[in-house]
Amino acid sequence: MSSRKLLYIATALLWAALISVASAAAPAKTSSKSAADNEIERGRYVVAISGCNDCHTHRFLLSGGKTPEKEWLTGSTMGWRGPWGTTYATNLRLYFQEITEEQWVQVAKEIQRRPPMPYYSLNAMTEADVRALYKYVRSLGPAGNPAPKFVPADKAPPQPFVQFP
Ligand code: HEC
Repeated sequence: MSSRKLLYIATALLWAALISVASAAAPAKTSSKSAADNEIERGRYVVAISGCNDCHTHRFLLSGGKTPEKEWLTGSTMGWRGPWGTTYATNLRLYFQEITEEQWVQVAKEIQRRPPMPYYSLNAMTEADVRALYKYVRSLGPAGNPAPKFVPADKAPPQPFVQFP
């Protein structure tokens, strides 16, 4: 074999090796990025189907769910008044800035709050969904103002509020 032919073969082999290294490395990088993206997307789905926005996003119910995503979970000034007093749905965009993902996993498992917070739904969520929810809300970043403070049962809350029997 001529030395020229040998050089061609060596060059071809080198290219083949380089291409296989490049194609092996590329998908690994893409898939680790999309794994994080997938988890955020899952969190968005969990929020969308579990109804957190109904209370934790001001006027979400009245907008027929059309409130822009950038306003999601910024809390509400709508009071929920009943024998327990008047509660306000927390600004979760600020709330999640204050706790770590590990703390949230624990909170979601044990949380109990006054009505109408459906804490039992949160207690029943799988850890994977609880973590995805955290990552999604964190990905939205902080926004809005804290919701009004709880008003005890013997005090009249300001408008607007929903009166429970
Ligand atoms: C029907 C209305 C309603 C829905 C639906 C709802 N929440 Fe709430 N949530 C509230 C209210 C009201 C409070 C405040 C309760 C209180 O003051 O005791 C609250 C409190 C909380 C708190 C406690 C915050 C703190 O300051 O300690 C967390 C966390 C929370 N909600 C998360 C969620 C998540 C996540 C979802 C969706 C899975 C959800 N909530 C769905 C009404 C709701």
